[in-house]
Amino acid sequence: MLDLTDRPISILVLHGPNLNLLGQREPGIYGSLTLAEIDRSLEQEGEKLQAKISHLQSNYEGALVDAIHQAVGKHQGILINAGAYTHTSVALRDAIAGVNLPTVEVHLSNIYQREEFRHHSYIAPVAIGQISGFGAQSYLLGLQALVHYIRK
Ligand code: DQA
Repeated sequence: MLDLTDRPISILVLHGPNLNLLGQREPGIYGSLTLAEIDRSLEQEGEKLQAKISHLQSNYEGALVDAIHQAVGKHQGILINAGAYTHTSVALRDAIAGVNLPTVEVHLSNIYQREEFRHHSYIAPVAIGQISGFGAQSYLLGLQALVHYIRK
């Protein structure tokens, strides 16, 4: 019988603007882990889940749009922390809707406990789900949920 857990899965992890500053950026809100440390823990979690992880951080909206387009045929799902573009970018929303790849939105902080302008996400309506407020753990929970969704 075909064991679905044997199916190779590749996940694209996208980090938006200012997330390259993690570790030094407002640690009271975003924690003290660096982006490299978060990426490493995602790779480790990916090994456990038998999913290959590719990651990209960009401060440029167009680079993130391009990466979403290029994910087609290469990756089976997208895990994204779009940073501030979450609250502003119709272009990212349209890119995700356009490629039709299952996408999970994550945030380190709980965006609903913060300023009003962070309460709205352009990504949420085109994502299969959102995880917000668990620090670096949000990424790991998001990865688990995404891989589980793809395999089901
Ligand atoms: C963030 C929340 C956003 O509002 C903010 O602009 C970020 C990080 C988070 O992970 O908590 O850059 O996406």
